[in-house]
Order: sequence, then C-alpha cells, then structure tokens
Amino acid sequence: MAPRKIKEGVFSVGAIDWDRRLFDSLIPLPLGTSYNAYLVKGESKTALLDTVEPALLKDLFANLDELGVKTIDYVVSHHAEQDHSGSIPAVLARYPDAKVVTNGKCAGLLASHLRVPASACDIITDGAVLDLGGRSLQFVFAPWVHWPETMFSFLVEDKILFTCDFFGSHLATGTLFADDEHHVYLSAKRYYAEIMMPFRGKYPAYLQKIEAMAPEIIAPSHGPIYRRPEFILDAYRDWTSDKVKNEALVAYVSMHGSTKLMVDRLVDRLVGLGVNVRQFDLATVDIGELATALVDVATLVLATPTVLNGPHPAAVYAAYLAGAIKPKLRHAAIIGSQGWGGKTVDTLKGLLAGLKLEMFDPLMSKGLPTPEDLAAVDKLAETIKARHAALG
Ligand code: FEO
Repeated sequence: MAPRKIKEGVFSVGAIDWDRRLFDSLIPLPLGTSYNAYLVKGESKTALLDTVEPALLKDLFANLDELGVKTIDYVVSHHAEQDHSGSIPAVLARYPDAKVVTNGKCAGLLASHLRVPASACDIITDGAVLDLGGRSLQFVFAPWVHWPETMFSFLVEDKILFTCDFFGSHLATGTLFADDEHHVYLSAKRYYAEIMMPFRGKYPAYLQKIEAMAPEIIAPSHGPIYRRPEFILDAYRDWTSDKVKNEALVAYVSMHGSTKLMVDRLVDRLVGLGVNVRQFDLATVDIGELATALVDVATLVLATPTVLNGPHPAAVYAAYLAGAIKPKLRHAAIIGSQGWGGKTVDTLKGLLAGLKLEMFDPLMSKGLPTPEDLAAVDKLAETIKARHAALG
C-alpha cells in the first residue's frame, strides 16, 4: 500500500496484511490486519514511529523510498512486540544513523526479543519531549495497553496522538480513516476484547489523560485512524465501565444431544422472559466472537457433557479464555450432562475462580434430561432474569 498523507509532513507508511488469518497462533483475524507505522518530518529531524511485521518489511521500505526518505533520525518504539518492532534491526541497518527512542523497559525487551543493542537506544522518561524542528513529540507512558512497556506519543503542534496497540482494530482496509464507524466499531470491540480487556481497570485513568490532551486525530498501529476521536473514546468509556447488558451468553458443546436439550430449553426460556441471549457452539466457535460477546454480557452459562472424568476440552478452553480476559461478568452457571459422575463442575469452577461473580447452582443431568432437570433449567432462567432486573 502506498504511503498516505495524514497532514503535511505526516504520513502513514506501514503495511496492510490483507490475508493474515491468525495472530500469535491464537487470535483469528477474519478481516486481516495492518501494521501502521508513521513518518513525521520536522524542519530538522525525521522520525519513524514504529515499524511493521518483518514479513511485510518490503512495504515499509517501498513507502519510505516513494517519499524520498534518505535519512531517519529517530525510530520511536512504542511497544516491543514483533508486529511493531520486529523490523527495527532492518531499519537500523538501512538507516545506520537512526537512534531508537523509547523507554527503558521497552529497550530491555527490544534487546531480549529482537537483539536491538542498548547502544542503539536513546532512553526517554514519561513526559519527555523530542524536538523535530517546528514539531515535537511528547511521550506518555501507558503500561499495559498490551505489555508493561507500552507508551503513546503526542505530536503536540498537530494534536495527533499515536497510541500503538491501544484503540486498534484488526481490520485490513485501504481506507485511511475510520469514517465508516459502524464497520470499524465491531472490529475495534473484538480487538479490545482479545487484547485489552484483561487490563481494563487501568484504562479510565488513561482515557482521562487523553481527554485532557484533546487530540484531533488518534492514530493506532492496527486498523484505520480516528479523525473523530470521540467515537473510539466513547466506545472505550462504555466497554471499560462497570455497565453490563441484560444479556446471557450460552456457550455449549454437546456430544450426544443431552446437553443440547438443556441448552435449548434454557435459551427458549430466557428469550421468553425477555433476556437477550447469545448462543455459541464451542465445537465450531470463532473465539474472537466469543470474546467480543463477553465484553458486556451479565451472565455466562457454560454447558458441557462429561468426557472421561471432566468437562469437554472445548468447555475447558472457553472457561480458561473467560478467566484470562477478565470480562465484567456478574454471574455464571455450569450446566450439562454426565454418564456416571466426574469432576466437570469443579474443574470449570476452578477456571472461573479469578472472576468476581456469583456462581449459580450447577445443573448436571444424568444422560437425557428428565422433566425435573428441565424444570430446574426453567428455574435457572427465572433466576437469571431476576438478577438482571436487579442490576437495572
Ligand atoms: Fe500489535 Fe501488542 O502488538
């Protein structure tokens, strides 16, 4: 993708990965992604903000060549992960006078992960300003907008905030700006769920800090750029708030149909009681969809048969995922079926133990659910409705 002008002297020079379908061997990318790098030209100095995934290095270099860049003075590294910093060694080889400008923690990670020598780095402190001549970059430390070393930079005169992973979206698009907000919203929410949600407790303070800076443009390192920052700031205010929806997520796996009968009954009753339901078959689910649904549901119901002595592995994965990404769930239930016993309930409860939520009494049928089992499912639906009503 050719370089694209954001403002006079400020360009998007990264790469679009249209065809990538898996990130970190973990996260599905149904719409691809991008690795945004930015070139900022001052009157005396030129800075490259982040680089790209090494597989697409040629795109970065082609963009720099097209812009006639002969010298880079600074390579700002906001985050040491490979998709943004993996090409720093190659950039330093091509522009040997460039210095990597970053914080001390990031320099340490660049050394251990990418063999970027300490001698190549200029270490900055929180709030430090880098003068480019008529333009200046101010650094804002923001630990845990993915890793502990992450930071933002603010192009003061142009009011552009570069946030690296924060506010990103895994969305390959030739459109520079996020003007199609409905389309971008879903990708940004999914990205928040997968990458950012585990650390959401830190973000209200970051959002306040950003409000005070009043950026006119927010430029993340994945997906399109926001020239109406309120759009993404409002979305993050909502996702990171304590508000949950009157919604239950029923994530199930069934082998011989018994668990599915319990699920069908529960979903039918919840819908009848006016509780919104999201139902996912864990045998085929896209885990990004599941994570996205977890952002603001009030209740998770995990439904599983018993395999050998415990839950179906797909239910274990879902419970582990929920425990790891720490959604703001208020309640959870475990339902399902068993042949003769096992530790299904205890195993799943253990995986959810880190979440501060109310666990409803488990419901496990022995083989096909009996009328009594189904009556208990009806009662669970009523309990969920009552709890949701109590949340307002
Ligand atoms: Fe886009 Fe944490 O890297």
